[in-house]
Formats: sequence, structure tokens, C-alpha cells
Amino acid sequence: MSELLTHPKVMKKLQNEVREIVGNKADVTEDDLVGMHYLRAVIKETLRLHPPVPLLLPRMATQDVNVNGYSVKANTQVLVNAWQIGRDPKSYSKPEKYEPERFLNSEIDFKGTEFELIPFGAGRRGCPGIPFGMVVTEIALASIVHNFTWSLPGDEKLEDLDMTESTYWCSRT
Ligand code: HEM
Repeated sequence: MSELLTHPKVMKKLQNEVREIVGNKADVTEDDLVGMHYLRAVIKETLRLHPPVPLLLPRMATQDVNVNGYSVKANTQVLVNAWQIGRDPKSYSKPEKYEPERFLNSEIDFKGTEFELIPFGAGRRGCPGIPFGMVVTEIALASIVHNFTWSLPGDEKLEDLDMTESTYWCSRT
């Protein structure tokens, strides 16, 4: 919602898609989601820039191993920086820009087979909850934009809105 609020054109485009498909029905259903390609692109773009588990779950090498030329000693803890991977200019043009359109005609998915986008991790310990997590997120977001238009209160300006991410702990120090 932070990205949609600061990108009103994306919000409008998403709202148009959802409202066109859901029409006058009160609720968004799972069947409606099938045709919502822009909704999926919006969620992918959000998971690219803001993966909820930015360093995935820690791994530990059980033996000395060489990964792509990097030698990792046994018992070393390894963290995979999914946050940085999603912002790699080798994979994405203007990576800092919030632009769901980049996923509209793209084969890149988040199931763990394309390593440019791994908000759910990859491999045999990747997230088993992808289908459930996605349906819940899609229904929730589609329902919100179906029923509401979000805007800033009063005469507040987008430029003045600070949505910088931080942990609660960081913001207190
Ligand atoms: C948007 C929602 C979700 C995100 C972004 C997410 C993300 C992740 C990530 C990054 C991992 C670690 C993968 C790795 O290190 O390779 C993980 C593991 C896991 N997730 Fe999710 N998850 C989500 C929803 C769910 C849901 C809905 C469930 C269950 C219903 C679930 C169950 C699990 C379990 C059990 C693991 C551990 C798998 C293992 O260690 O073998 N997740 N998830």
C-alpha cells in the first residue's frame, strides 16, 4: 500500500483491472484472480523491492564446499541477501524504480527456479507456503483496491511522505 500510495498511476491501473473483473459483486473471489495479471505483477514488484524475509533463513555448510568460485568452510553460517538480489542492475533495469510493468511480459517467477527473484527462497528448503501466501495476499490487496481509493489526508504532498523502511529497533535509536 505504501508503494501504491506513492505511485498513484499504478494504484489507478490496478484498481481499473480489479473493478473491471469483479464488477458490482461485493467480494473478490479466487476465480476472479485468474485474470488479474497486473495484480500479480504489482505483488511481484513489491516482493522484489521489499522481500519480507530479506536474508531468507540462515544456512550452515555441513562440509567444505566451493560455490561459484567462493570457498565456504564447514560450519560457516551463510546468509542469502534476497533484498540485494532483487536490486541487481545485471538482472533489472532501473532496479530502484517501482515498476510492476517489468513483470507483465516476463517469464521471471518467484517459485525458486529463477534466482533473480527469490522472496520465498529456493531449493529443497524453500517456502512451501507460496500458493497459500499468494492467494491470501492477492485476495486482500484486490479487496482493498476494489472497495477503497487511498490518498493522503488534507493537503499533504507525496514528496513529504517518508516511507523509508526501518526496523522498530532502528527507528528507536
Ligand atoms: C508472502 C508470504 C510468505 C513469504 C514471503 C514467505 C517467505 C519464506 C522464506 C523466505 C522462507 C525461507 C526459504 C529459504 O530460506 O530458502 C520460508 C520458509 C518457510 N515458509 Fe514461508 N513465506 C510466506 C508464506 C508462508 C505460508 C503462508 C506458510 C504456511 C502456510 C509458510 C511456511 C513456511 C515454512 C514451513 C518454511 C520453512 C521451510 C523449510 O525450512 O523447509 N510460508 N518462507
